Amino acid sequence: MEKHPIPHTDLSVSRLCAGCMGLGGGWEAGVELTPELEKQAREFLDAALELGINFFDHANLYARGRAEAVFGRALRGQPDLRAKIVLQSKCGIRWADDPPGTPQRYDFSAEHILASVDGTLRRLGTEYLDILLLHRPDALWQGEEIARAFDSLKQAGKVRYFGVSNQNRFQMEYLQSFLKEPLVANQLQMSLLYHGFAEAGISFNQDSAGYPDGWEGVLEYCRLKGVDLQAWSPLDRGALTGGDLRKRPESARKTAALVKNLAQARGLPAEAVALAWLLKHPAGIVPVLGTTRPDRLRACVRALEVNLSREEWYSLFEAARGRAMP
Ligand SMILES: NC(=O)c1ccc[n+]([C@@H]2O[C@H](COP(=O)([O-])OP(=O)(O)OC[C@H]3O[C@@H](n4cnc5c(N)ncnc54)[C@H](OP(=O)(O)O)[C@@H]3O)[C@@H](O)[C@H]2O)c1
Repeated sequence: MEKHPIPHTDLSVSRLCAGCMGLGGGWEAGVELTPELEKQAREFLDAALELGINFFDHANLYARGRAEAVFGRALRGQPDLRAKIVLQSKCGIRWADDPPGTPQRYDFSAEHILASVDGTLRRLGTEYLDILLLHRPDALWQGEEIARAFDSLKQAGKVRYFGVSNQNRFQMEYLQSFLKEPLVANQLQMSLLYHGFAEAGISFNQDSAGYPDGWEGVLEYCRLKGVDLQAWSPLDRGALTGGDLRKRPESARKTAALVKNLAQARGLPAEAVALAWLLKHPAGIVPVLGTTRPDRLRACVRALEVNLSREEWYSLFEAARGRAMP
């Protein structure tokens, strides 16, 4: 699979990233890592590697740490593999009862960041993370404190590069002003049905602007600074690829039908067209796939065979926004 260098790093990653949130048996507490869950992680890892994916996305909290733990067990069976893959994880959201008796909270304190990375490295069975992302902004964050934690992790060789997730342009600029090294990634929810990033690109100085706050200039800032853009939930949890559309608006149903038609005309699965819509964007958005199933991974990779025309791209966008272009 085509790889691209992440600016400001020596990392070269596949055009698609494999998200690991679905591993480890869900969000409930007290679930044991069974042989079935280990098998699922091994098959997921093997399928991704076979398809040419070398980029894996984790977070300390996925399946309460079990996603990292079960992935770590799969890695242990292949000791040469670590150097050939790019491992990314996140911190900054504490589950309830971590530490015991505390509620769920956002936490960008140095104490949390350092302890979280130690836990992630232990569970993954690796000495270093390639990229650490701050998961979701903490209202009480302080740039100086985060910079100290990042320095300490870098000097200890525990984390090579740093990035963010779910941050707007001003949050990135604020954080960057304290850091010695450039932020290398921002992971955001972006998809055909969650298309605020695309709306923001066309809505300035228009009466009909309509997109969630915060998108202004995010893509442009990242493109200008060489920050890799990653899209979480790129398939809207399966809504456009055969999943349940009953609670979705009419526009989503029409978009799913158009995705299906464009895919059928090419003899490809719907996943290929839905992801191709993100890949077509010149910002170089990297979809972070959420499926744990090898067959769906294979369907997703077929997106790399699709080059949507401008007209197809805009038709999908217009269907998804549910109204004509302004
Ligand atoms: N930074 C953040 O705040 C953040 C937030 C959420 C996620 N993420 C990352 O982004 C990755 C992707 O997110 P996501 O899981 O929401 O992505 P997604 O690709 O939009 O959705 C994947 C989910 O939808 C299911 N699915 C796919 N096709 C389906 C279909 N036809 N019918 C029914 N279900 C279907 C999958 O189940 P199967 O496994 O059964 O295929 C999986 O649970 C995660 O793994 C994680 O790494 C980051």
